[in-house]
Amino acid sequence: MIGNFSYSNPTKIYFGEDSLNFLNEELPKYGKNILLVYGGGSIKSTGIYDNIIKILKENGKEIFEDGGVMPNPTVEKLYEGCKRAKDNNVDLILAVGGGSVCDYAKAVSVSTYCEEDPWDKYYLRMEDVDNKIIPVGCVLTMVGTGSEMNGGSVITNHAAKLKIGHVFGDNVFPKFSILNPVFTYTIPQYQMVAGFFDIMSHILEQYFSNEDDNTSDYIMEGLLKSLIHSSKIAVKNPTDYEARSNIMWTATWALNTFVAKGKLTDWMVHMIGHSIGAYTNATHGMILSAISLPYYRFIMPYGLQKFKRYAINVWNVNPEGKTDEEIAKEGLSQMEAYMKEIGLVMSIKDLGVTEDMFDGIAKGSFILKGGYKTLSHDEIIHILKKSMI
Ligand code: NZQ
Ligand code: ZN
Repeated sequence: MIGNFSYSNPTKIYFGEDSLNFLNEELPKYGKNILLVYGGGSIKSTGIYDNIIKILKENGKEIFEDGGVMPNPTVEKLYEGCKRAKDNNVDLILAVGGGSVCDYAKAVSVSTYCEEDPWDKYYLRMEDVDNKIIPVGCVLTMVGTGSEMNGGSVITNHAAKLKIGHVFGDNVFPKFSILNPVFTYTIPQYQMVAGFFDIMSHILEQYFSNEDDNTSDYIMEGLLKSLIHSSKIAVKNPTDYEARSNIMWTATWALNTFVAKGKLTDWMVHMIGHSIGAYTNATHGMILSAISLPYYRFIMPYGLQKFKRYAINVWNVNPEGKTDEEIAKEGLSQMEAYMKEIGLVMSIKDLGVTEDMFDGIAKGSFILKGGYKTLSHDEIIHILKKSMI
């Protein structure tokens, strides 16, 4: 069954090897002052920075730079960005980078003219925006989060040991996003495979929910198959355009709100993952990979039929002569073998988690109710223990 919903996605996508040229079509729509937001410098070494500066200058723009956005952007950096955007009366925020840069740009966009502390309003109290929003455009260089076509914006507050994502409405989605698969060739292998698992996790968080027959589940099985196929090729040959372009587009569809429509979703792997991120600052996709199998093995009995379907439809498990449980378990074993094959981190120990953090991580994990099992504090601790192996 498809539940009731409203749906629109206002982000215009320009996809392909020549997509950066379309910046020339978008820039005239906005005023003169551009805040160019980027990370720790990869766009300078790859040459993307020079190309963008050239296009901005050709379009007569005044450029204000806001570099140094760190992976898992912090609330302190957000305050700094807001000041720069306000002081320079910015008309468009151009985010060039991965999910961290795009998320940060959205946070600056809604926070610059916010009259109170944006951390309190948007992240602690999860309120809607009721002030001026600065438009955001993205040039994506790292694939995984889906931030290029959604309203998600995750900010970390290290002092409070909290990492929180606000999913803003479509008034905050990027106005446009430029997706050139070639820009992703230079991502280091560790980041690249972390991004692959982030995509997989987004799909699984939305797939493992209610048992109704739902069109989205069939779409997600297709997205998963494409991802598994292309990621195996990309780890061997990162410059395989066919694989990288398929992965880039799969990532966008995995979290542009489309497949979630009309169904329940889980998101507990992300909730626990964000809490681990607040304690360790580890790479988002690797945290998800280290806790996913312990989580899914724990909830499998509560959603057995879906895990059986996953095993058969996604991992091609032959069901003949096997119990439902055996089939479901075999699916998760195939997933484990795939994860090891592409080089994912399989233990939170390797990400800096120690047992004395467990209680705080469990307390910092927002408990959602869309999955097969509403977790208790002790069950989160159990999953964390299993993730240390
Ligand atoms: O900072 P630079 O120098 O640019 O280097 C980055 C960074 O170190 C590097 N990189 C990016 N593109 C590159 C490149 N290096 C070489 N060549 C390129 N083409 O990659 C590193 C990681 O970048 P980052 O943006 O942090 O990665 P990702 O895209 O995985 O973003 C992670 C953040 O997004 C949040 C995560 O929690 C985390 O804070 N998420 C956002 C979501 C959303 N908006 O919906 C959903 C996700 O579940 C996730 O929570
Ligand atoms: Zn994610």
